[in-house]
Amino acid sequence: MWPGPYSEWGSKKNIIASCDQSLKRLQSDYVDIFYHHRPDPDTPIEETARALDLLVQQGKALYIGISNYSAEQTKAITKVFRALGTPFIIHQPRYNMLDRWIEDGLTDVLADEGIGAITFSPLAQGLLTNRYLNGIPADSRVARPDSPFLSPEKVDQTISTVQELNKIAQQRGQSLSEMALAWNLQQPTVASVLVGASRLSQLQDSVHALDNLTFTAEELAAIQKILA
Ligand SMILES: NC(=O)c1ccc[n+]([C@@H]2O[C@H](COP(=O)([O-])OP(=O)(O)OC[C@H]3O[C@@H](n4cnc5c(N)ncnc54)[C@H](OP(=O)(O)O)[C@@H]3O)[C@@H](O)[C@H]2O)c1
Repeated sequence: MWPGPYSEWGSKKNIIASCDQSLKRLQSDYVDIFYHHRPDPDTPIEETARALDLLVQQGKALYIGISNYSAEQTKAITKVFRALGTPFIIHQPRYNMLDRWIEDGLTDVLADEGIGAITFSPLAQGLLTNRYLNGIPADSRVARPDSPFLSPEKVDQTISTVQELNKIAQQRGQSLSEMALAWNLQQPTVASVLVGASRLSQLQDSVHALDNLTFTAEELAAIQKILA
């Protein structure tokens, strides 16, 4: 949020100051949900939780969310939130058909605690769409220099899986992005998906995921086989 000490992570200084700066930029007195971006290895989790709780006490946030916390870290901070009475309601993890880490413990913690997940990169930054089925378009995220997390190598590694998934999407009468979002939403702890888009037509396509959110057991098994 600023160059120098305490400019990120989870200290009380960072959380209170970055919320104040955001509210100024938003020209708002409060936000509905204030998310803590990622766990801080150098700050006790109690300090982070208390700072987030203070935002609610000060009327600057109605609810608290966290992002990128592991199952264990989520369990630990939830314990502090429960003790404080903090309205902690949501976790924002990365989740998509090519990255299913949350199924390895986090979804159980969220289900036990009654916390929803809003998943980011549900389209694997575009890999789970029709974007790369016929090569790498010049205007795609992979081709842009400002995109450090997606590379031509990643397309090469995933394209055969993506093509197999696309066949199932076609059998369902959906685009691949629609099926990828519907698949994300069939996970019981996923309350919503945080979709990215570089143009309006992509959002118009993706929103049609809502037309068919159900999967047969055979479809889920076929997807599982492709992803295994
Ligand atoms: N909490 C965190 O740590 C964290 C981290 C990352 C992101 N996020 C949040 O999550 C949001 C979404 O992340 P993301 O952008 O990686 O999500 P994503 O939905 O997985 O990927 C979005 C990209 O996929 C392509 N795309 C989307 N819809 C398409 C369609 N219908 N057909 C073809 N291509 C389509 C576009 O790529 P092109 O640009 O190539 O057109 C678009 O930019 C971000 O805006 C951010 O707010 C949070």
